[in-house]
Amino acid sequence: MYARKAFITGNWKLNPQTKDEAIELATGIASAVTDDSPCDVALFVPFPYIESVQETVGDKVIIGAEATTPQINGAFTGGVSPVMLKSIGCTWALAGHSERRVIFKESDEEINEQCKMLIEHDMNVVLCIGETLEEFEKELVGAVCEIQLKKGLAGIDKKDLDKVTIAYEPVWAIGTGKVATPEIAQSVHETIRGILKGMYGEKIADSTRILYGGSVSPESVDGLVAKPDIDGALVGGASLNAEGFGRIINHE
Ligand code: G3P
Repeated sequence: MYARKAFITGNWKLNPQTKDEAIELATGIASAVTDDSPCDVALFVPFPYIESVQETVGDKVIIGAEATTPQINGAFTGGVSPVMLKSIGCTWALAGHSERRVIFKESDEEINEQCKMLIEHDMNVVLCIGETLEEFEKELVGAVCEIQLKKGLAGIDKKDLDKVTIAYEPVWAIGTGKVATPEIAQSVHETIRGILKGMYGEKIADSTRILYGGSVSPESVDGLVAKPDIDGALVGGASLNAEGFGRIINHE
């Protein structure tokens, strides 16, 4: 198994409400990151805060965007292009978060365009995949992950997979407090790694980090990241509390 350094990431979503609150939260989180912290750390934050939060955390924490618009310029009102992000020093973004898929109706094809555009500009992408409760109950988890992976990564060459992180986020666990058990999450992560192996070969599959997201807390993180195919977490609500997110970062 190739060594994969743990990766703890936060997704602030549409929070906090002001720049001052964002800087205060980022200050608290940065203070929790030390040379002894056992992981890489990233925060995906609302566009208006990216520069000031990155300035606040310095090189302790990667600051990324929660989504992108896969065009460079043009009549795309409200969009934010990867090139714009790169021009302010931001080289990371999420793609395909379930809220972008469900609320903003982003298709697998649009998500794939975002992934390709980010990689084309030498940026990094966390591709989010995961099933709904209905799909879980119908035992379609593997099928859904395979479809979302293959469509999301379509046209992306194996040489660029070092720019790709996968986040498995069962929709039924997001914001519900119903975190997947470590055993369920490990089983799905193992399936995802197997799909990546079929797509890109064992070496790349074993070196790609696969994060779990969905109601991760300081209490649940240890059991999750102890599993061999769970390389970290994508944390929503708990990343809005500096003390609690600090405990997740410095998990045992
Ligand atoms: O992207 C992470 C997010 O979807 C998980 O949210 O609040 O369940 O940790 P939460």
